[in-house]
Amino acid sequence: MNAAIRAVVRACAYYKKESYGIMRGYEGMIEGDIVKLGPRSVGNIIQRGGTILKSARSDAFRTPEGRKKAYQNIQKEGIEALVAIGGDGTFTGLHKFYEEYKIPSICIPGTIDNDIAGTDYTIGYDTATNTAVEAIDRIRDTALSHNRLFFIEVMGRNSGYIAINSGIAGGAVTMIIPEDDTTFDQLYELLEENGNTTKKSNLVVVAEGSKIGGAIELAKKVAERSNYFDIKVTVLGHLLRGGPPTYFDRLLASRMGVAAVEGLFEGKNDVMVGIKDNKIVYNSFDTIMQYHHEIDRESLRIAKILAI
Ligand code: F6P
Repeated sequence: MNAAIRAVVRACAYYKKESYGIMRGYEGMIEGDIVKLGPRSVGNIIQRGGTILKSARSDAFRTPEGRKKAYQNIQKEGIEALVAIGGDGTFTGLHKFYEEYKIPSICIPGTIDNDIAGTDYTIGYDTATNTAVEAIDRIRDTALSHNRLFFIEVMGRNSGYIAINSGIAGGAVTMIIPEDDTTFDQLYELLEENGNTTKKSNLVVVAEGSKIGGAIELAKKVAERSNYFDIKVTVLGHLLRGGPPTYFDRLLASRMGVAAVEGLFEGKNDVMVGIKDNKIVYNSFDTIMQYHHEIDRESLRIAKILAI
């Protein structure tokens, strides 16, 4: 997100426009916590995780009174357009605000879940998935040395992107994701089959939104059915949301930040910047909000072939 903030601020400066940072998202907009930014104030942040502007969930922005206050504050600062970075919740808020106050607005998709329609990638997803792969590699050393079955849980409340792709890249035996209908019995069968072969260790990557239970629950269920396996669990959780972004995410965020500013100058409004086939695209909020970024079924197929 920092790389995106930097890109927006510097693109504004390049086109001779002023830019302001709104602290803690919509909360800061309501409280008037707004700071002037310039090309130098966003130096030395491209390599940092998190966001210098901080983030918050805002219940007040869901109310007409909250949005009215926010509008008054941005009016006071003379702000003429908004760029918001975030996921579903951020977009819904900005869309509503646009409908009411008609401030030109553009969103940039930033979520590790990669679950936003209208873009092949969201900012943060690549970094989170690489972190998950690194963790899986490290866990594999213990799994292999001790012949253990590991359940590794990654983030993804409604989305299996991190799980499926870190699982393939990390060589996991299977991935349990919210979008798939694998039952517990099918999972157990697969583990049993592997246990009967020469395969000595097994890694199962579980998305937190799995329909048949998270890593802890699945480990418990397997242990209840058999004491054959030596089972361990690792929940990666928020570890995946921090740390220096990958080259891919920095580049994606830089491109999207510039595209957001240029889009506003071109009169684009109430849209989200996305990337499709490596080209910048703009999609209306209405279109995006109707869809979910579906998991690539081809990844599921590949994962099954490689589980042999
Ligand atoms: O929405 C992105 C996400 O990473 C989810 O996968 C996860 O459930 C959630 O954020 C965690 O959010 P919080 O830190 O607010 O608990």
